[in-house]
Amino acid sequence: MTSHTIPPRSAFPEGFLFGAATSAYQIEGHGQGGAGPTHWDSFAATPGNVVNAEDGAVACDHIGHLDEDLDLIRGANLDVYRFSTSWARVLPEGSGTPNAEGLDFYDRLVDGLLARGIKPAATLYHWELPQPLADIGGWRNRDIADRFADFAEVIMGRIGDRVWSAAPINEPWCVSWLSHFLGQHAPGMRDIRATARSMHHVCLAHGRAIQAMRGLGMSNLGAVCNLEYATPVDASPEAAAAATLYDGYYNRFFLGGIFNRAYPEDALRGLGPHLPKGWEDDFDVIGTPVDWCGINYYTRKIIAPDDGPWPHHHEAPGHLPKTQVGWEIFPQGLHAFLKRTHEGYTRGLPLYVTESGMASDDRIANGKVDDRARIDYLAQHMEQVRRAADEGIPVKGYIVWSLMDNYEWSLGYGPRFGLIHVDYATQTRTPKASYHALADALAR
Ligand code: FCB
Repeated sequence: MTSHTIPPRSAFPEGFLFGAATSAYQIEGHGQGGAGPTHWDSFAATPGNVVNAEDGAVACDHIGHLDEDLDLIRGANLDVYRFSTSWARVLPEGSGTPNAEGLDFYDRLVDGLLARGIKPAATLYHWELPQPLADIGGWRNRDIADRFADFAEVIMGRIGDRVWSAAPINEPWCVSWLSHFLGQHAPGMRDIRATARSMHHVCLAHGRAIQAMRGLGMSNLGAVCNLEYATPVDASPEAAAAATLYDGYYNRFFLGGIFNRAYPEDALRGLGPHLPKGWEDDFDVIGTPVDWCGINYYTRKIIAPDDGPWPHHHEAPGHLPKTQVGWEIFPQGLHAFLKRTHEGYTRGLPLYVTESGMASDDRIANGKVDDRARIDYLAQHMEQVRRAADEGIPVKGYIVWSLMDNYEWSLGYGPRFGLIHVDYATQTRTPKASYHALADALAR
């Protein structure tokens, strides 16, 4: 196997930005600082949902290690840090009285980044829905959009004057389909009506939050979608149609709603009967103009047709090399999505790769972590980004998932996605070989 090296900063267009990402519940330590309960806490406490029933109560104790972690971002020569703000930390009841300690924390985070010359890229929601809102239907209840806009005003009323960019919702597909159709994430439902409703309400909440942030005078606002490449299992027309439909409800539904003010016909054939009444009238809000689009990209899936109920398909095994979590490594998919998003949806708006990375079973040996598979993975994906930039696609940045090992949702603390190794028993941080390789490539 040939191994790839991370291209130097100079190989990318002038002003191209590099960063690393995390999210609140995955690193902060949700059990401290006055945060309220979330649907992830109850989901994790239910046997069978999360490996070892692990939760985010302690995670990486990022709150207790803020300065150390910010210094590590700086030490990797990164330009941007993409973090998320926990709704339940800011508003423990989901609405009402803010938690002053929570707001203070995000204030310190943003100021700490700026003091180190790093651009703060905020995501408002990365999955920890306050439990009181989950209790009244969560993303199935249309009211979520207004509650979310209120949260946007509270948190951005505090830090919106200093963040470099903001996006309302991380990965609409995960918030809706993964969590309400596949049942793999909180609230762990498997119900098509709940799925269709949450898909639409996520889009609506996105638009309402963009409006709220515009109202505060903020700029550089975007949308972050996770895109997954669909490959037909064989050369039959049935397999091609199955892969196209997968692409429809996974990728084109959210990009279509937000950038083209329409949902794709193929996805609507199955979801239409379950959408809330009057959904067609919401596109003025959903399509509120944004300034950029973020793409989170990890893998592809092989799709096979079957005779089951809609969407009449299932995943088949693939044969490419896989990461620790079994995801095939398919870098070309990133180039394909940058091109398609630019041509079919964003038409000239800046694109950012807002997440890219892999899990590996990294261990410390002699004080070091030799994660050369991650260096190879990042290098191959950065090459695809460079290819897109060379073709004139306006991709402006590449952000690695993740800054450090953290709570990987239903997989618990086993998968390690970080540039930095975390020993969860001692909270010791050890930069991996990939961290050092990135720091060298990005040095000015
Ligand atoms: C993305 C999520 C992120 C992390 C990575 C591996 O879908 O945004 O929180 O779980 O996958």
